[in-house]
Amino acid sequence: MNTYVNPPQSPDRLLDRIPRVVLADTPTPLQEAPRLARMAGLTTLFIKRDDQTGLAMGGNKARKLEYDFVEILNQESDVVLTVGGTQSNHAVMTAAAARRKGLEAMIVLGGPGITEYQGNLLLDVILGTEIRYLKDNDRNEDLASAMDGWAEELRRKGRRPYTLPVGGSTGIGALGYVRAMREIAGQLPAGPSQIVLAVGSCGTFAGAILGAQLFMPGARVIGISVSRSRAEIAGRTMEIVRESAGILGCDVTLTGAGIESYDCYRGEYGVPTDSGREAILTCARLEGIFLDPVYTGKSMAGLLDLARRRILDPGIPTVFIHTGGLPILFAFERGLRDLADFTTVISPRREPE
Ligand SMILES: Cc1ncc(COP(=O)(O)O)c(C=O)c1O
Repeated sequence: MNTYVNPPQSPDRLLDRIPRVVLADTPTPLQEAPRLARMAGLTTLFIKRDDQTGLAMGGNKARKLEYDFVEILNQESDVVLTVGGTQSNHAVMTAAAARRKGLEAMIVLGGPGITEYQGNLLLDVILGTEIRYLKDNDRNEDLASAMDGWAEELRRKGRRPYTLPVGGSTGIGALGYVRAMREIAGQLPAGPSQIVLAVGSCGTFAGAILGAQLFMPGARVIGISVSRSRAEIAGRTMEIVRESAGILGCDVTLTGAGIESYDCYRGEYGVPTDSGREAILTCARLEGIFLDPVYTGKSMAGLLDLARRRILDPGIPTVFIHTGGLPILFAFERGLRDLADFTTVISPRREPE
């Protein structure tokens, strides 16, 4: 158990009275992964295919944006601003959602520099997203202050900007994963289960923890960090859970000790790890399912290691939430190029003239 929540009379009613703007194709499939399960020594492993939420090639952010966009549209904003790393999934999905609603998107990205327009960055430019880039700087505070300054400039020009924080991880956005947990509860056989997912800015994890309490009591929710330390995750996740519970109107008593996360698989944020690369190959070759090098490859590497070390219970169903991020794979072609050894190039036979 991650948290203690005073069960409200009807969690369904509490959730359903919060408005949302439909952006994701849901329910996403809960797919069994029998060969991966056997390899990991687990009786049952399911993959929740949130890489198939549809928006901007899929991913977890579509569920969060469904709640964020209610306020964006209520305020009659004409441009949505957000921030992220060079290959931000959140930024591209925000931009695609804005386009779907007839709005413009402007994003502040930060990182080591732009060497090529690949992966999500390519999708950003195809969407016609205006980008400001902070070279060699991906500090969240700097990105946020650049975004706020830009929004101010736009206001002075008579525009109506709306700013979304990093990862869209707010109490309202996290309701997307409260809802996702209700979906999973309806797809899984009844009984105890353990849910594993990637943790970045903590909104997905917070929503999953609160959603498990409301719709899957007794489920264990395990976060695999891709960036923050365990202590940082506990603090931020608690804040978001409390905020989400406040919006829903249910009580929560949380202790940081009750939040289960692992930060030993993260390496450096945005830089692929050996175990993440191995997990990408294993999952593709056993199940035909792709993972990405920044989020889901690392979180699957965590799942496989926790299974091997028997920290996961092999006897109860495990659910891996595939949070998407697949366009990023194409921006890391160089790290996977050696696999092309399998290719045999056959030159065209030239007929004599
Ligand atoms: C593909 C993918 N998975 C997982 C996460 C982590 O979600 P959160 O930021 O809500 O912790 C992100 C966040 O950017 C993501 O893009």
